[in-house]
Amino acid sequence: MTWLLILVMLMFDVSFMVSYNINQFVCWFLQRMFAVVYDSCGGPKVLKWKVVENPVLDFNEVLIKVEACGVNRRDLWIREGIYQHLGKNKYLGFECSGTIVKRGAAASKLPIGSKVCALLNGGGYAEYVAVPEDYVMSIPSGLTFEQAAAIPCSASLIWLSFFERNNLIRDDKVLIHGAAGGVGSLAVRIAKSLGCVVFATAGSEEKVDFCRTLDADFAINYKKQDFSEVVARETNGTGVNCVLDCLGDDVVDQNLKSLAVGGKLICIGYKDHWKWSSVEMKDLVSKDTTIMGININTFNVVEKRNMLEGIQRDIWPLLKGNPHLVDICATYSFAQATQAHTLMEKNLHRGKIVLLPRTDLPHTDLP
Ligand SMILES: NC(=O)c1ccc[n+]([C@@H]2O[C@H](COP(=O)([O-])OP(=O)(O)OC[C@H]3O[C@@H](n4cnc5c(N)ncnc54)[C@H](OP(=O)(O)O)[C@@H]3O)[C@@H](O)[C@H]2O)c1
Repeated sequence: MTWLLILVMLMFDVSFMVSYNINQFVCWFLQRMFAVVYDSCGGPKVLKWKVVENPVLDFNEVLIKVEACGVNRRDLWIREGIYQHLGKNKYLGFECSGTIVKRGAAASKLPIGSKVCALLNGGGYAEYVAVPEDYVMSIPSGLTFEQAAAIPCSASLIWLSFFERNNLIRDDKVLIHGAAGGVGSLAVRIAKSLGCVVFATAGSEEKVDFCRTLDADFAINYKKQDFSEVVARETNGTGVNCVLDCLGDDVVDQNLKSLAVGGKLICIGYKDHWKWSSVEMKDLVSKDTTIMGININTFNVVEKRNMLEGIQRDIWPLLKGNPHLVDICATYSFAQATQAHTLMEKNLHRGKIVLLPRTDLPHTDLP
């Protein structure tokens, strides 16, 4: 009986190794993969699905076979040429999920075959991406590859805003802008999981309805209503502890009015204007307000490692077994990246857009 068991285990192991090594051999032999590329900056139509060289693996990196990749607004700005692309990976894509298929000599934390998601310096819009192992996290149980790919960027901003630079606890009050977007929708879910009272804003009635489905306590159309009045009324004038802002100038005065004494305005993005035209100093000084910006691109290796450890410690337990907390609006194949970017550019999405590296679709853009 024992011998039979050992034989079965050996057969399983050998067949796994054979199929795995064949994959590796083909990969090594061809040194090619599909990726979404663009020759010059411009609108969504510049995106093409093309055969390119495999990424080169550094000693501290793992090679991930990408199963899904999250679309971020930053991808659109880089494609348009109004934002600098950072990192050695020259393709778009700042977050992905997939399976580790190879490890650099010094990468030893997660074994080959691990199902992971990762925060990237670009490169996610490709079949394979090389990433420092410190930027890789195991997928919380119960989440699909699509859901896991939608998390790393949002979770980074949320962890920094709610945990590291704040210490939000039950009954704290939070105002979240862009709440129907990728970062915003997860931020609402996490804040609610922490037991906070959430004011969520969005720019259309459809998105406001979506914010209600996220469980936001108050969903406000900021284009129709002064949200600071709603905050003042619903908090008896005490205000919110934290504002997570991606709108910028248009709402800066309302944001400052909405803050409680000692509250924090955390700026992660801006919509139309790169400058604040005016700030009501009275609201700023009298309430001991803190205003801070976050740009995860500026983080060094140690800061990013700490952030990812923090995400796994503080956010993973909330997501574990709760896949409904990650809201995916649409999935497209990599070959349909143009449609995915068009959807975000039209600003019609709710939740997250995810790309899948589907090679079984016709590739009309092949050279
Ligand atoms: N600081 C960082 O390190 C970092 C990293 C990643 C992302 N971000 C920022 O985080 C924010 C959210 O990103 P996301 O990927 O979740 O984007 P998203 O899905 O488009 O969500 C942003 C939401 O905010 C509003 N919005 C903000 N900026 C906009 C713009 N330029 N054009 C149109 N609508 C805009 C829209 O809501 P309404 O239609 O309701 O107004 C949209 O639903 C963005 O500002 C992005 O740049 C920052």
